[in-house]
Amino acid sequence: MTIPSNIESEEKVVLVGISGPSSSGKTTVSRLLTGIFPGSILIHEDDYYKDDKDIPMDEALGEQNWDCPEALDITLLSQHLKSLKHPNADPQPKLPSIQPESPSSVADPALIKQLKQKVHNAVGHENLRLVFLDGFLLYHEGSPLVEVLDVKLFLQVTFPLLKQRRESREGYQTKDSFWVDPPGYFEKLVWPNYVQQHQHMFDKGDVENGRCVASETLGIDVFSIKNEGTGIEEVLKWAVQQILESI
Ligand SMILES: Nc1ncnc2c1ncn2[C@@H]1O[C@H](COP(=O)(O)OP(=O)(O)OP(=O)(O)O)[C@@H](O)[C@H]1O
Ligand SMILES: [Mg+2]
Repeated sequence: MTIPSNIESEEKVVLVGISGPSSSGKTTVSRLLTGIFPGSILIHEDDYYKDDKDIPMDEALGEQNWDCPEALDITLLSQHLKSLKHPNADPQPKLPSIQPESPSSVADPALIKQLKQKVHNAVGHENLRLVFLDGFLLYHEGSPLVEVLDVKLFLQVTFPLLKQRRESREGYQTKDSFWVDPPGYFEKLVWPNYVQQHQHMFDKGDVENGRCVASETLGIDVFSIKNEGTGIEEVLKWAVQQILESI
């Protein structure tokens, strides 16, 4: 992997994508990672949603489709990421975040301390700036983000676990309002969109249990979560390891 460097300061900018279906844990793990890698910044793809009135309709369901690429300004997001790679870039060319805060105690402080030390030992001597991109739609076919991201991580989670997590959420802050899923929204719209956009990554198109076939072709590393026994700390340890191996 070639990582462009800022010539004046020799700073290396590494763009790390954290993707996966809705409620797979992207935002939670991205926030934890941002606290572990010193000087890193976090961009949420959800901040690049279009205005509420411009979200396409799913005609069959009669509801807005928040889960298709057309609902987002991915071109602007891609431009912001690319500009971070340029020398003298604005250090944070991103939109103001409207994502709500996460609870602070989602991981054991002793583990966080241990992972910070591990990062320090491995790359503490390097002038690195990590940029984490948290997004449900980074690696779909035709995505301009695949080419831009240096490290591509993905959380593969089974349908029942995702449905249960999604249905226990209150809703989502949007640009102009607050979205609450109508009944059946996960299985009728969120999941089918996810399958359509990600089946190319998995053997036989099996997004739940299939082996990732995009590791070689697209350089995507997948962590597979099959049941509630795999907590966020396992995901975090894996992500730190993958990032350190890639840089
Ligand atoms: N490995 C895990 N074990 C247990 N709970 C988890 C795990 N990962 C995430 N969660 C919980 O699932 C919920 C959704 O997590 P999170 O908001 O990080 O998902 P997301 O992938 O960002 O979803 P979205 O795409 O909808 O924004 C949160 O309540 C979070 O605490
Ligand atoms: Mg999220």
